[in-house]
Amino acid sequence: IPVEAFDLVIIGGTGDLARRKILPALYQRFNAGQIGKKSQIIGAARGEMTSEAYRAFAEEAIREFLDKSDVKVRALKSFLKLLSYVTLDAKGETGWEELAGKMHSDRIRAIYFSVGPSLFGDLAKRLHKHGMAGEGTRLVVEKPFGRDLASAKELNQMLARHFDESQIYRIDHYLGKETVQNLMAVRFGNMLFEPLWNSQYVDHIQITVAESVGVGTRGGYYDRSGAMRDMVQNHLMQLLCLIAMEPPAKFDPDAVRDEKLKVIRALDPVEPDNIVRGQYEGDGERPGYRNQVESRDSTTETFVALKAHISNWRWAGTPFYLRTGKRLKDRASEIAIIFKDAPHSIFEEDGQRHNNILTIRLQPNEGIELGVTIKEPGPGGMRLVDVPLDMSFAEVLGPDEADFPDAYERLIMDVIRGNQTLFMRGDEVEAAWAWTDPIIAEWDGSGQAPEPYAPGSSGPESAMFLMHRDGRRWREIK
Ligand code: BG6
Repeated sequence: IPVEAFDLVIIGGTGDLARRKILPALYQRFNAGQIGKKSQIIGAARGEMTSEAYRAFAEEAIREFLDKSDVKVRALKSFLKLLSYVTLDAKGETGWEELAGKMHSDRIRAIYFSVGPSLFGDLAKRLHKHGMAGEGTRLVVEKPFGRDLASAKELNQMLARHFDESQIYRIDHYLGKETVQNLMAVRFGNMLFEPLWNSQYVDHIQITVAESVGVGTRGGYYDRSGAMRDMVQNHLMQLLCLIAMEPPAKFDPDAVRDEKLKVIRALDPVEPDNIVRGQYEGDGERPGYRNQVESRDSTTETFVALKAHISNWRWAGTPFYLRTGKRLKDRASEIAIIFKDAPHSIFEEDGQRHNNILTIRLQPNEGIELGVTIKEPGPGGMRLVDVPLDMSFAEVLGPDEADFPDAYERLIMDVIRGNQTLFMRGDEVEAAWAWTDPIIAEWDGSGQAPEPYAPGSSGPESAMFLMHRDGRRWREIK
């Protein structure tokens, strides 16, 4: 469904995110007919650049980051006509009048802050001063949203001076992933799972977001963040919320976000012996983390595994194991719900099986799998075998339908449509920091280095132990 004509300003329009994600996503939606020819997209940044040069910049980005088959010459040409550029100084007056002059007062104006949070305050102030903070304006704010509770609060307060919460769209791009949204569809669209979705039937839950890449050229940013701030506080936390939350009364922004917030607030503090952090080493071919960042004795973690408990009626006693890391065996993200064993076995050979596992594969090879036990075929007596009921979206829906749009496509369109369901509310972000702050403080205080792990492995030894001591094991990363 096409959206109404809008004005979108990308502040940081020549940055990495604009190049890799925002511009390609906008082109895709244009190509799909969702964005019409009357909309305008304005790149804004400090550097001098003509609009023509910006269009060339965008064209190059789109060609670099999309599949060749997605880039249609004519569509690209008309898309580029929507683009222009304004030289803008966040901390000074340059460009603001020009920008204000380009805006249509009767349209939705989306202002994308694709810059570091240190500029958010100045930007909000100048948008307000130049008459661009009114009702039709929506701010899109990227992570990292602060680096701890105090800085997140400050950012929220700064934005709140000139904008209402209903105008602020805090992006966590995991929420824009098709399969992540599917989590809610599976849970709340079926009768089958929800009655079993609690500590009475669920033994434990595993959430894995494994990456095979290292930090690459992002060492400068990453070394000040680490896996806890970069992935756990936001992406993994959001996944945990979607699995653990109570059914919202309706699929509406505040109903969903209220429930997620309750989950975060019900999380117990993590005891130091329930958390492991690691840092990848190098091998013959690839440099270790410490050789990719400035500080040769950096204690920043590139891997985290932890056991979390949610103290509420539904989840008391069911641990949530989370892990994420870079330079691991494979790029594989999944959520696995491991159900308890049947209370009594009528089959002689049956032992601890943990056979009923619902796995939601987030990426790649998106799909859902349910492990069930059946009789092993053949005349050899009642032997049991565990098999997967496996649904690969690509197989069931067809490769085209399962060629999911990038998260940014969905999220940017939601901003224009004014739907905040898949964006984080200020109080959610703060609650997430309130939970991660003590963990990070404990690490900082101890001065201990993270445990090294081999590149291409499943993480440090202690992460395995975290499970083994509970009589459980991680699922294979594949
Ligand atoms: C980003 C992190 O938010 O998410 C990166 O900053 C990480 O470090 C990325 O690589 C992972 O996203 P995706 O969509 O590739 O799983």
